[in-house]
Amino acid sequence: MKKSRLGVGANSALLLASVMTLAAGCAQESATSTGPAADTSVVDGEGNIRVPTDYRMPYQTLGTWAIAADTGKGSKEMHIVYASPGAAAAYQKTRQFPDGTVLVKEVYETQTADMTTGTVSHAQKLKGWFVMVKDSKNSHPGKPLWGDGWGWSWFDASNPTHTTSTDYKNDCQSCHTPAQATDWIYVNGYPVLQK
Ligand code: HEC
Repeated sequence: MKKSRLGVGANSALLLASVMTLAAGCAQESATSTGPAADTSVVDGEGNIRVPTDYRMPYQTLGTWAIAADTGKGSKEMHIVYASPGAAAAYQKTRQFPDGTVLVKEVYETQTADMTTGTVSHAQKLKGWFVMVKDSKNSHPGKPLWGDGWGWSWFDASNPTHTTSTDYKNDCQSCHTPAQATDWIYVNGYPVLQK
């Protein structure tokens, strides 16, 4: 009896050790895979932002905005918004975007035509991207494209690696003031965040 108990004890210790190793491995893996703050493909060491490469498949589509034509029917622009992997699920739980979250807003010129469903506009020509990177820790103090918990930049379609923005306070912030209470993001446009 005593012997068998000892045996069980030894086995459990072994099991515990391997579970701990496994857990450590998982923790390490999730630290690298959910640590988009370290995503050097979007932010370099100097805090320069670029449009993420090949984001359309791994990123999740949050929603689309249709900007009405000044005259006549249809939309003159469509804005399609994407979030980096895991951001929407985290937002559903915490009502906050985790640090490192990348939001991409594509801006398209449209084409409007009569289709069998009615008068329909669709995305036609990409004009460029708005990109925001969540940074609650204010990791880039003194950089004019970082502040209020985000990095902010616009990119012309011809140049996804170099922003034409110079200062988010002039280039972005005033237009986002109506969304200040929701961390500057127009979350009401994104069904997947509503839950
Ligand atoms: C003319 C006003 C205006 C300016 C300037 C502006 N934004 Fe926005 N932005 C909006 C509005 C309104 C929306 C949501 C509706 C839409 O897309 O039309 C939005 C949406 C976004 C989104 C999608 C996430 C969200 O907030 O819903 C991103 C990303 C974004 N803007 C980034 C930027 C960045 C970065 C800048 C500066 C380089 C900027 N914006 C400048 C008005 C503006």
